[in-house]
Amino acid sequence: MANINLLKTGLEVELPQQTAYFNYFWLRDNCASSWDPITQERIFDILEEPEDLSVKHAEILAGDLQVEWHDGHQSQYSLDWLRRWACGEKHGDIAIRNRVPWYSDHYDKMARFDYADLVENPARVADWTESLLDDGVSIVSNMPDSNEGLKSLCGLIGTVRASFSGYEFDVFSKADPENLAYTTKALELHTDLPPEELPPGIQFLHCRMNDAVGGDSLFVDAMAVANKLKSSFPDYFKLLTELTVPFRYTTKDHDVRSRQRIIELDPNNGEVSGVNFSQHLSDIFDFDQKLMDTLYPAFRQFGRMMQDPKYLMKFRLNAGECIVFDNHRIAHGRASYEEGSGDRYLRGCYVDRGELRSKYRVLRARHSKD
Ligand code: OGA
Ligand code: ZN
Repeated sequence: MANINLLKTGLEVELPQQTAYFNYFWLRDNCASSWDPITQERIFDILEEPEDLSVKHAEILAGDLQVEWHDGHQSQYSLDWLRRWACGEKHGDIAIRNRVPWYSDHYDKMARFDYADLVENPARVADWTESLLDDGVSIVSNMPDSNEGLKSLCGLIGTVRASFSGYEFDVFSKADPENLAYTTKALELHTDLPPEELPPGIQFLHCRMNDAVGGDSLFVDAMAVANKLKSSFPDYFKLLTELTVPFRYTTKDHDVRSRQRIIELDPNNGEVSGVNFSQHLSDIFDFDQKLMDTLYPAFRQFGRMMQDPKYLMKFRLNAGECIVFDNHRIAHGRASYEEGSGDRYLRGCYVDRGELRSKYRVLRARHSKD
């Protein structure tokens, strides 16, 4: 047939805008009959097909490519579906959205949600998850003053994931602190726990009490900073996306180590998706000393740009508020507070980012945006 060309390893088919090539294994693997109709998992085994798999006959009928294979199996593919794959639209994943950079003036614009509204209204949860994908930060107000309140908020997005220290953590000043967070000292801008093999994704920080003098929250969209580094210092940017640097966290019972890229790229589109940044949990850089000649300038440039007031959102987190943010994309910290000036207590936990995207896909399909 004129509009289909059967080749050795695949076929060419004329689609409305273009002639596209499709590999025979790919076509056979993705025949509609390959999927279990109930579980939607692939139940076809491509490994069983012959080395020289090819098509016996193919034609276009009623907007479909109809294929007959040499073993008699028949497949059909809609031309529109083929077109989508040929021009890179793929599945059309709605969770791959453009991240919107923000700057020091973001506090008044931050997406805000009411706890009870979220619990009662899945359409609001769709909006909430969307704002987390786009801005990477949101505030939930009117939280119950309880551990259960935080658990149920996390449950709206996914399952709480443990870090090496357990399912949740409590931030308050204590005697014999195992890390700086548990003192009244300032916490420099950081992302939590890069020493973990998979650093935590979405972080919830539920403020239960904040009567102390000082202790303002510091938040920076590190993606916005990384994109500025990319345009102003492309060589530094490239190095920080390629090198995996060592991180380490030790307590008396743990010695947690991992290597991470300081700037992470989204495998879907190559855009900056986040950072791993924590000077207090950075291990000794173990590269060739000559590489330090470029690594330190790159690291210092990026770190200093993050401290630029242009990017820094500074505000007071109030009791009853929970700030929810992408722990890879958003660097956070706090100003010091005065010992004995009042109570300050935050309870935190994490949910993976994959769960956020999954929840968004499901809820947005059910509740379209008004
Ligand atoms: C932390 C942290 C923030 C705060 O414990 O890692 O970032 O405001 N705490 O105390
Ligand atoms: Zn932190």
